[in-house]
Amino acid sequence: MTVPDLDLAVPTGPDLVVVPPPSVDPRRCRVAVVEPVADVRRLIGDRLPGADRVASITDLEVAPDRPIVIVLGPGSSGIPGLTALTELTAQHPLLAAVAVLDHLTTDGMQAALRAGARDVVALDAGGDAVSSAVARVADQLVQAAPGVVGRTDATAARSAPGRIVAVFSPKGGVGKTVVATNVAAAMARRSTEAIALVDADLQYGDVAVVLGLPPEHSIVDAAGVAAADDPGSLRDLMVRDRSGLLVLPAPREPMMGVALGPEDVHDVCGGLQQVAAVSVVDVPSVFDDATFAILEAADDILLVASMDIPSIKNLKVGMQAYDLAGLVGPKLRLVLNRANAQVKLDPREVERVLGIPVEFPVPYDLAVPVAVNAGQPVVVHAPRSAAARAFDHVARTLLGPDAADGRRSAKRRR
Ligand SMILES: Nc1ncnc2c1ncn2[C@@H]1O[C@H](COP(=O)(O)OP(=O)(O)O)[C@@H](O)[C@H]1O
Ligand SMILES: [Mg+2]
Repeated sequence: MTVPDLDLAVPTGPDLVVVPPPSVDPRRCRVAVVEPVADVRRLIGDRLPGADRVASITDLEVAPDRPIVIVLGPGSSGIPGLTALTELTAQHPLLAAVAVLDHLTTDGMQAALRAGARDVVALDAGGDAVSSAVARVADQLVQAAPGVVGRTDATAARSAPGRIVAVFSPKGGVGKTVVATNVAAAMARRSTEAIALVDADLQYGDVAVVLGLPPEHSIVDAAGVAAADDPGSLRDLMVRDRSGLLVLPAPREPMMGVALGPEDVHDVCGGLQQVAAVSVVDVPSVFDDATFAILEAADDILLVASMDIPSIKNLKVGMQAYDLAGLVGPKLRLVLNRANAQVKLDPREVERVLGIPVEFPVPYDLAVPVAVNAGQPVVVHAPRSAAARAFDHVARTLLGPDAADGRRSAKRRR
């Protein structure tokens, strides 16, 4: 096969503005060139900076949750390559293809488009034809997958360690899981970076139920992987929910006999910091070594109290008995749930008793149990509800103004 000699040099002159060829941000969408002939593979690959290059479509590993544009070279656009493409496209909704043909014949184009290619370009088409087609298809793909728009997929280790936000309460039933799931989901909707949600409650963990997710792997599996210092495998254990959140649920069956040790917690937190920009951890309502290990590893602790006397009393007793203020005081940030409940309790009284200001009041809102029953965070199910707005405010505050507007400015830039 002869390789056309392409002149890709752009003439420059004093009056000519040189526009760089369109390129695809690898964090948004992966691009892979599939072509058996090495020279042609290089020729196409050189026009697509950052693209993977493989000889055969069967060499390609496709992650189910990451957009990918496959660029089929002329040597892959015969019947076997196109058949493989049809199968792959059916299996992976986040996969699209551009076919590069030696010449644009009607038959060749028809065959490629029927096999599922979204665009067809001639190998000797000048200028940016290939990179433009790939950028256009990548844009369509990413826009159709809102959960992954602009997200930094953390298969590799992060350069700076992520933050840990622990959500804790000495008493169950106060809204800890609702706070953790919604704050994490709101962060995932706002941030362009990976956000994780981890259920560390082995006995009563119900994050997976609240989000309507299958609990395939749990934090117990993660402890094993994290000990091996393998962030890629830790990431693979997590499921992605519809808002793009990476979730590590509790075990499917309550593990009465099993306890996470402080070393496990240490390993998992260290792994999470490499995988996600922020990891929100739903901490069990017990004061044991694992709990303290999480609180110690955390950058922020959302202390959840419900607006009733037993909840406030338990919080006060727990804080005193374990000297929470002495151990982790500066990290404590009080979330007062059901803050508008019609009870004879004044938030100022709560502040006085606990000695911490109420930073995040969350109102009682019927939209919360409705969303729980629908298996969705309320920030997704009823984003305009009062509770959703309160959770979004927590997420924005914890992310900081720049990160919190990441998704919006990414959209604007597009
Ligand atoms: N702000 C709220 N408004 C209305 N209902 C709420 C609110 N917060 C929590 N709930 C309800 O309380 C129940 C218990 O909350 P959950 O988060 O599971 O508690 P915990 O994890 O602390 O045991 C949930 O099923 C939810 O429906
Ligand atoms: Mg819970």
